[in-house]
Amino acid sequence: MSTVETISPADRGSAPGNAPALAVLEQTRARTLALVRHLDETALETVHSPIMGPLVWDLAHIAAYEDLWLCHRHFGLELLRPDLAALYDAFETPRPARQDADAGLLNSEQAYAYLAAVHARSCRALASAPIADPTLFELVVRHELQHTETMLQTMNLAGLLAAGEPPALTVGGGDAARVGGEQKSDGRARAYARAHAIKNRAPARAWVEIPAGAFVMGASPQGFAYDNERPRHTVELPAFEIASHPLTNATWRAFCEQGGYEDRQWWSDAGWAWVQRHASGRSRHDQPDVVRDDPQACLVHISWFEAEALAAANGGRLPTEAEWEKAAHADLGDERGLGALRDVGLVWEWTDTIFSGYPHFNAHPYREYSEVFFDRGYRVLRGNSWATDVRVASSTFRNWDLPERQQIFAGVRLARDC
Ligand code: AVJ
Ligand code: FE
Repeated sequence: MSTVETISPADRGSAPGNAPALAVLEQTRARTLALVRHLDETALETVHSPIMGPLVWDLAHIAAYEDLWLCHRHFGLELLRPDLAALYDAFETPRPARQDADAGLLNSEQAYAYLAAVHARSCRALASAPIADPTLFELVVRHELQHTETMLQTMNLAGLLAAGEPPALTVGGGDAARVGGEQKSDGRARAYARAHAIKNRAPARAWVEIPAGAFVMGASPQGFAYDNERPRHTVELPAFEIASHPLTNATWRAFCEQGGYEDRQWWSDAGWAWVQRHASGRSRHDQPDVVRDDPQACLVHISWFEAEALAAANGGRLPTEAEWEKAAHADLGDERGLGALRDVGLVWEWTDTIFSGYPHFNAHPYREYSEVFFDRGYRVLRGNSWATDVRVASSTFRNWDLPERQQIFAGVRLARDC
């Protein structure tokens, strides 16, 4: 990082078509920096949770990813720091290794400098040459935005996220369909408030019937999508019912009070083994009191195992991801939500489906983005949470995590056979 390149106003003229892309890059970075602005170096460098990297790791990784995919692969520049490219490759350096004292990892000051240096050369490259591959550009932007949600998870686990005081920032202007009507006009602060305390609404959870038949699943071949959302294909489903709303804390509390965590009948073998390992699976340690205590608030921070048990105890099951997407696209002549689904966008929604490739899947631009996670027991989550940037959220987006994980902002929506 010997030189920090700067852009003169004149440079910005040579690829004027990239002005919107430059603005997106700048807004994205402003969002990332605003998220951690209040944190000192100790907060950034401390490993707060064994399942998460320190925040400084995410910062340096964001820079390494941008340098690799935008500066190097897309614009043909030499890597700024080839040594850091390998060190901050998520696949080569899994989370537990992100705390090694002598690995040569950057401290927070160095990570900020690396971010700034890569950002400057990205802006310079964007100002001087057209974007040949908009997918790669979008991948880099969304990568950073996805890591801001990861960082919010870490901050939440560490108690660094003040309840009711989320960063009131969104990166607008995306071409992605926004998921969840609430985020459309309300902004992030309101979405957070709703996720954490849905006041003054009758949680009139109802079953919505989705008739049997074929639907088209996956992202359109045009425009940006992740490799795992393609190719589009037809899926035939029997009729099913899906809940209009996700479960609230009241349902979870009733499950606890009725001895759900001690009652073998609600749990799968793997789920029961998980309950035994975590004598108190029920202590959802990582959520602010306001979230846990409000019976009307959307249930969040439950593992897939708990979601499965709760569904069984409430006369339902988890939807498959095909059912979720079909319901999200169902035309019920109602503008208030996403197809048949209300309150999408408060919490990620666990599905029954194990993350895998669609028929005739093609990895793009690299196998480690999605393919290496296929068929390894990761469960698909659909929708998005209050912490997801609207640019990333879409009705075909597939998120995935391990069934025991509770750090993700995830809840559950019930389905059942007709
Ligand atoms: C899609 C959220 C599961 O965090 O592992 C970040 C996104 N990919 N860097 C993840 C991602 C590469 C991914 N998830
Ligand atoms: Fe990453």
